[in-house]
Amino acid sequence: MKSRDSWAELYSFEVDRAADAPLFHQIYQQLRSAILSGALRSATKLPSTRELAAQLGVSRSAVVSAFEQLLAEGYTFGKKGAGTYIAPDLPEPFEAIHGRKKRTASVTKTVASFQDLRGFVDVTEQSDERPFNLGRTLVDARTAELWRKLSARTLRSFGRHHLGYGDPHGALELRKSVCDYLQAARGVRCEPEEVVVTAGTQQAVDIIARVIQSADKEVWIEDPGYSLTRLALVAAGVKVCPIPVDHNGINVTEGIRRAPKGRAVFITSSHQFPKGVALSMARRLELLAWARESGAWIVEDDYASEFRYGGRPLASLRGRAIQNALPP
Ligand SMILES: Cc1ncc(COP(=O)(O)O)c(C=O)c1O
Repeated sequence: MKSRDSWAELYSFEVDRAADAPLFHQIYQQLRSAILSGALRSATKLPSTRELAAQLGVSRSAVVSAFEQLLAEGYTFGKKGAGTYIAPDLPEPFEAIHGRKKRTASVTKTVASFQDLRGFVDVTEQSDERPFNLGRTLVDARTAELWRKLSARTLRSFGRHHLGYGDPHGALELRKSVCDYLQAARGVRCEPEEVVVTAGTQQAVDIIARVIQSADKEVWIEDPGYSLTRLALVAAGVKVCPIPVDHNGINVTEGIRRAPKGRAVFITSSHQFPKGVALSMARRLELLAWARESGAWIVEDDYASEFRYGGRPLASLRGRAIQNALPP
């Protein structure tokens, strides 16, 4: 190895002060890539933090943070009073796993880069109260009073068990109530074991994206559709294929043409977002037949199915009415 004072130059390390990534992260990433690519071999001694900071023209604390992260992740180890060395038994490089021909689904999933996540919608930004604005619920005084009463009643039975961790699927009582509701309102027969309570659609989509293991496969999303579903999928590293929506809902024939081997379809069948149309019966049957044949998942966001002024509610895709209409 060359003399110490050309260390950073030897590995062509550079920092870009104009970049979004903090300096420590840039240094960490360059060191890590040099280790993973084999440019820095196991047992090589790293320069001192002071030396490297001077070479790169950065503060010592940035280099210390980078070194600490490498140490925490097992890429390096420290010898008391003798410096920092590259570990002999490195964690398996993500890049190597990624490049393998035979890969398992769980390790192939890529997560979105920061670039992909730019332009994400800030859901904490409250829209104003004009009609047709999104993300607001109109609550009248009577409903608010009812909520108050029910909340007070619930808090009266507040007990010690509420102070510990609960079931990660959600409280069993709540899941039973969800089943009763779905049976009565949506014709869905399900058991509490099949219900998982999440913090909202975003978390649900994120969990589903992991479970369906869609590595290398596309999923159908509605076009136009709910942008937060698309963004949650992109954030989880899922490749999305937009399928056009017309007055009958998602165009299943077009979906089959564009992505016949789609791993899943994410759909707002009862009340399409943003068009407000319901998926016609013919399309429902077509979609279910395709999913059954191809083994694709249907992820039904039964969004706003309760919001209607007249007529009977449409059956959910999971509901008995439609399942019974399918050929065996
Ligand atoms: C299509 C769709 N799904 C779900 C939701 C609800 O999302 P969350 O569970 O995050 O409140 C909305 C809210 O506007 C929506 O438009």
